[in-house]
Amino acid sequence: MTTASDHNKKLFIETVGCQMNILDSELVVAALKNQGYELTPDVAEADTVLFNTCSVREHAEHKIYSALGRLKFSKRTRPDQVIGVLGCMAQKDQELIFKKAPHVDLVVGTGQLSEVPRLIDEARTSRLRGLAVSLDRKEGTRLEVSSSFQSYDPLREPQMRPSPYQSFVRIMIGCDKFCTYCVVPMTRGPEQSRPPVDILRETELLAQQGVKEVTLLGQTVNSYKFTQDGKVWRLADLLAAISEIPEILRIKFVTNYPKDMTRELLLAIRSLPKAARYLHVPAQHGCNDMLAKMKRGYTIEQYREMMARITEVLPDAAVSSDFIVGFCGETEEQHQKSMDLIREFRFKNSFIFKYSERPGTKAASLFPDDIPDDVKRARNNEMLELQNRISEEDNAQFIGREVEVLVEGFSKTAQKTGHHADHGPGQLTGRTMCDRIVVFDGNPRLTGTLANVRISDVSSTTLLGQMVTYEQQTTPGSILPILS
Ligand code: 5AD
Ligand code: SF4
Repeated sequence: MTTASDHNKKLFIETVGCQMNILDSELVVAALKNQGYELTPDVAEADTVLFNTCSVREHAEHKIYSALGRLKFSKRTRPDQVIGVLGCMAQKDQELIFKKAPHVDLVVGTGQLSEVPRLIDEARTSRLRGLAVSLDRKEGTRLEVSSSFQSYDPLREPQMRPSPYQSFVRIMIGCDKFCTYCVVPMTRGPEQSRPPVDILRETELLAQQGVKEVTLLGQTVNSYKFTQDGKVWRLADLLAAISEIPEILRIKFVTNYPKDMTRELLLAIRSLPKAARYLHVPAQHGCNDMLAKMKRGYTIEQYREMMARITEVLPDAAVSSDFIVGFCGETEEQHQKSMDLIREFRFKNSFIFKYSERPGTKAASLFPDDIPDDVKRARNNEMLELQNRISEEDNAQFIGREVEVLVEGFSKTAQKTGHHADHGPGQLTGRTMCDRIVVFDGNPRLTGTLANVRISDVSSTTLLGQMVTYEQQTTPGSILPILS
């Protein structure tokens, strides 16, 4: 019989979906590396293959089932290979995954990820299938369901981060908003805020490891609320406390819920120079009837009031949004109201999605998914074209201006052309405080520092420029100006 220590411990992991999933994968990989695993980008070489999945749209699930289908054949020649499905789809489909893909060994939901190392070992040593999922929302009391979804925030794995200088920090799990189209309240369970003491301890540790920018994560990050030692902590309090950590230069937070974008929070952001001037506050639709059908909990008038508050308190902030096109019964006129909303608020960017019916949601049981796919596609394209035009026009205002960026490393183009650090200077990328991507030439040693870049050209997604100077901040108080 083989034991866990006999095999070569090569791990392949594919992650789809949102930042929460990227963070979950980082944590799973950290736990497995601690047990001697190493990552491989080659699925054929791996003896453990994990998929961290997304259920928000059907398309994301199809992709995983296709990938699993391809592995069925390779497993015939590699019977020792352990295959696992993690995350939202695992929580949603549970045993169905074993039925559809019998060669899968483990299925582990979002709230049970600490079980992954044990279940892999069991699958390998005894060939037993492992299922670890949390309770369905109706399977127990709120407390019982909540405690079956663990917030999984143990070890960290820098290799899985966007860059060594950037890290996600989870401040909440789950969601209680129950927008009628959305599967997340089922796949990630009840809304639970993490204790501030844990969040701060984790952020301090990340800062000691060299992280300069943290992105606080929650499905509705600005609904954060936790009572600790008699004090009620909100997102504003967390932003203030994290601002005190000297090594952390920037604090981002996603995703915001429009109703909870309070004046107090905006004022706190204004008073905290490290808090990002970037607010992702999805509107989802421009028509009140559609918003009501989506059960978003606000009207266009209230969203407009929120935008007015943002403009008044934080005039330089960039606001981005999400939109769903082709939701149940959406008329052309209603679609045009979403278009009008984009024209009115000129979002920095919008993520646009074709409605995808999700089993188990209110919309799936109440309203027919009656907009033909070609109409959804046409509306999606029309909206994307409008948003791109606006994004490019707004980016053009930066031409000739100097912006401060946190340098993230080589740009995608430089990476594609195989440009590595030992080749010296190349095309770098970074982001401004308002989350605009900036591309410029520079030395890779700038990575993780703040640089000033003068913008000379733009596209709808990117600002292009030349570096002016940069400041390398090593320890607080020792600022080292270096000419570029
Ligand atoms: N179909 C299409 N888009 C969806 N989203 C959430 N659920 C669905 C669905 N069923 C979109 C919303 C959300 C983003 C993360 O995904 O716009 O803000
Ligand atoms: Fe889904 Fe609505 Fe919760 Fe966002 S707020 S995760 S769209 S249910």
